Amino acid sequence: MTRMLRETPLQVEASETLDPRDWDETRAQAHRMLDDMIDYIASVRERPVWQPIPDQVRARFRAPLPRQASGLDEVYREFTDFIAPYATGNVHPGFMGWVHGGGTAVGMLAEMLAAALNANLGGRDHVPIEVERQVVAWVREMLGFPQGASGLFVTGTSMANLMAVLVARTTALGKLARQHGIGKEGARLTAYTSKAAHGCISRAMEISGLGSDALRCINVDQCHRIDVAGLRAQIARDREIGMKPFLVVGSAGTVDIGAIDDLASLAALCREENLWFHVDGAFGALGVLSPALAPLLTGIEQADSIALDFHKWGQVPYDAGFLLVRNGERHRDAFAAPAAYLRREARGLAAGSPWPCDLGPDLSRGFRALKTWFTLKTYGVEKLGTVITRCCALAGYLEARIQAEPRLELLAPVNLNIVCFRYRADDANKVNREIVIDIQESGIAAPSTTLLDGRLAIRAAIVNHRTDTCDIDALISAVLEFGARRTADELMNVEAPPLAM
Ligand SMILES: Cc1ncc(COP(=O)(O)O)c(C=O)c1O
Repeated sequence: MTRMLRETPLQVEASETLDPRDWDETRAQAHRMLDDMIDYIASVRERPVWQPIPDQVRARFRAPLPRQASGLDEVYREFTDFIAPYATGNVHPGFMGWVHGGGTAVGMLAEMLAAALNANLGGRDHVPIEVERQVVAWVREMLGFPQGASGLFVTGTSMANLMAVLVARTTALGKLARQHGIGKEGARLTAYTSKAAHGCISRAMEISGLGSDALRCINVDQCHRIDVAGLRAQIARDREIGMKPFLVVGSAGTVDIGAIDDLASLAALCREENLWFHVDGAFGALGVLSPALAPLLTGIEQADSIALDFHKWGQVPYDAGFLLVRNGERHRDAFAAPAAYLRREARGLAAGSPWPCDLGPDLSRGFRALKTWFTLKTYGVEKLGTVITRCCALAGYLEARIQAEPRLELLAPVNLNIVCFRYRADDANKVNREIVIDIQESGIAAPSTTLLDGRLAIRAAIVNHRTDTCDIDALISAVLEFGARRTADELMNVEAPPLAM
C-alpha cells in the first residue's frame, strides 16, 4: 500500500464528504420519511400482520454491488415499496408469534437521535455511557440488586445468557482459565437448567467450551417449573461421581408456556451448594413492573445474574438485550483485558474507567441505552407494568374463549402471557401446523407453533402493547375458519386456497 501511494500520490479532492450538498433538500426528504413512519405505526391495523414475499421482491435483493450513487429519494422509494411492506409484522397488534415486542414511536425517534450522535459505547468519557449507567442503575433498582452490581446492554438474551455462563465459568475456574483454557477442572464443570429452558442455554454451554453434555436438563412439573428436589438429587449424584457443579439457570418465563421456576427455592439451593444462580428472564423478568406478577418472581432479587430483553415486554425497538451481574468484580474478571490502544486516563476523553468493553466481548457498541432511557422516562415503569399486566389479562381472555369453544383444546396451563392450544382434528399435528401457516399468510394474525409432549400447539404470546380483545377474537375466528377448511380438505384430500384478509 505504502509503495502504491508513493507511486501514485493521492489527490485531495474537494467536496468528497458524504454530507449532502443541499441540506434543505435532505431536511425535506427527512421530514417526509419521518411523517411516513409515524403514519406506518399509526395505521398499522389497516395492513396485514405479515405477507409472503413475492418472488420479484425477493429478487430485488440479489442485486449487484451499487458502484454509483443513487438519490436518497430513490433509495427511500425502494424501502417504502419493497422493504416496509414485507417486515416481520411485530409492530401489528395481531402478531402473537414467538416472543416479539411491538416497539413504539418514542423508541423509533430515540433510534434516530442515537444514529445522529453515532456514539460508540465501548468506552471513553461521554454522556451516552452515563445514560447506559443510568439505565443499569434503574435495572438494579427494579430487580432489587445492590449498588456494586454491574450491567450491560447486549443484542439479546441469547447473548446475555452466554455471557452469564462465561462469568460463572471464570468464577468457578479462576481468572487464569481465560489464559490456559478450561483444562481438566473445566471438563468436570456441570450446569443445570430445566427441560423447558430456552435452547440458547445449551448453545451457551457449547460456545463456552464446556459442552452441552455438561448441562443437565432437569424434569419439570405439570406447569413446566423445574423440579427442585430432582435438581438437588442430580447435583448430589454429580458430586458423587467427581463432577463439579457450578451453575443453575432458572427460567422467569419459559419460552413455550411462560412458566416461572420457583426462584426463591433455586436461590436457596444455590446458596447451600455454592453455585452461581443465573435467571433467564428474557421476557418474564420485567414482570417485576407489574404488581400482579411481581410476587411470582420472588427470589429473582437473589440471583447472581439476570438476562432480560427490553425489546420484548419493555416495548423498546430491537435490539435491547441486557445482562445484570450482582458482583461487578466477577463480571469484569470474565471480560476485562488491558490493551495499549485502550489505555485509561484520569481525565480527557480516555477517562471514565471501567468502560462497558470491560464487561463483555464487544468493543464497538451502539447506543441501545438511549431508546431504553427514552422509553422508561417517557412512559414511566408503572405504565409499562400496566401493559404487562394487560397482556396477561388478554392471555386469560384467550384461554376463556378456547375453553368455551368445543372445537378447540387448551394444551398447557396459562401461566403468564402465552397460550398454547389446538383445533381438534384427527391428524391434529398436521392440521394445526397448516392452520398456523394459513393464518400467517392470510395477514389476519401471526401465531407460531411449538411442540408439547409431541402435540403441536398453536402458540399465541401476547407481548405487544397494541394487542386488544378484537385481535384475540380475530385469531379465534381464523383458527375456527381455517380449521374447518383444513379438516374438510383432509377428508377430500385437497389443498385449501388461501383466505383473503
Ligand atoms: C425464555 C427465553 N430465553 C431466551 C430467549 C432468547 O432471547 P433473544 O431472542 O433476545 O436472544 C428467548 C426468546 O424468546 C426466550 O423466550
